[in-house]
Amino acid sequence: MDKRILGGDLEVSGLGLGCMGFSHAYGEPVDEATGIDAIRYAYDIGYRFFDTAECYGPYENEELVGKALNGRKDAVIATKFGVTLKGVTPTPDSRPEVIRKSVEGSLKRLGVEAIDLYYQHRPDPKVEPETVAQVMKELAAEGKILHWGISEASQEYIERADAIFHVTAIQNRYSMMWRDYESYFPMLEKRKIGFVAFSPLANGLLSRAYDASSTFDPKSNYRASMPQYAPGAYEENRKLFSLLDDLASSHNTTPAVVSLAWMMAKKDYIVPIPGTRKKERMLENARASELKLSSQDVAAIDEALSSMTMSAVFGGHK
Ligand SMILES: NC(=O)c1ccc[n+]([C@@H]2O[C@H](COP(=O)([O-])OP(=O)(O)OC[C@H]3O[C@@H](n4cnc5c(N)ncnc54)[C@H](OP(=O)(O)O)[C@@H]3O)[C@@H](O)[C@H]2O)c1
Repeated sequence: MDKRILGGDLEVSGLGLGCMGFSHAYGEPVDEATGIDAIRYAYDIGYRFFDTAECYGPYENEELVGKALNGRKDAVIATKFGVTLKGVTPTPDSRPEVIRKSVEGSLKRLGVEAIDLYYQHRPDPKVEPETVAQVMKELAAEGKILHWGISEASQEYIERADAIFHVTAIQNRYSMMWRDYESYFPMLEKRKIGFVAFSPLANGLLSRAYDASSTFDPKSNYRASMPQYAPGAYEENRKLFSLLDDLASSHNTTPAVVSLAWMMAKKDYIVPIPGTRKKERMLENARASELKLSSQDVAAIDEALSSMTMSAVFGGHK
């Protein structure tokens, strides 16, 4: 797989593997042996960037990723602090003493000497960005983290944090259904900050593997209540689906690959992290690294996306 650089000096594979779904949000967690086997498969086919978080599970996902990648020193592992998950409602908590406790736990569970990329999972309205950045600077000086990032923050927040200690990457929602963060591109370029795209398939919808007859267990699968999977949404997304189907057929590939290749063609600092527990889908998604869409292709897709109506998408609120 191609390599990409985040934040000026962090080399990762062109796509990362979102590991959340092994333990959280997309159905009952997989058993440990199955999860380890799948993550190692991703490594074997070229993924070198793996995404987890303290609150996935909580804790179990970091343990799984740590066990799976044990000894694979060129695997870049990103994890996150600053969110306490109670039920499905995340509560931000980035008090310095909480971060310091979190980092020790994550290092232990991942079985690493330093965390490659440590994100603040969500800004905490009670803690200033300068305070969080200062803690990151100290953790880096202590050798506990190598890079840091921020997920779902305002531009002002990112700039204030970056002024204290360089932010390597933001991690934000980004897909053909949610393009609002494109407005951040000039700021990211000015400050040499990478963009890691989460939910790049709009929680799987853009793969076209699901239709109006798909059902999800409301106890374990958040898709049961996501607006893009609601009754009626498939009809609202009819134009989007035909665009994806046409693109897939003209490039002799799949809708998932086109969706990922589209964002990768936009900027060389964009790294999607599609999540999947299935080996064949890891292989499929990795093919986005080979599909090089031209700037004309991207402009035509953008124009089509901007002019069509589509349903709401999970998390796509200000
Ligand atoms: N920073 C944050 O706040 C935040 C929030 C959400 C997610 N994330 C991270 O971002 C990663 C990706 O986001 P996401 O998992 O929410 O959304 P996503 O990558 O858009 O979609 C994941 C879903 O799509 C399915 N899928 C993936 N590839 C597919 C393919 N080729 N064909 C058909 N279905 C496919 C997967 O199902 P199967 O597993 O059944 O294949 C999974 O349920 C997560 O794993 C997590 O690490 C971060």
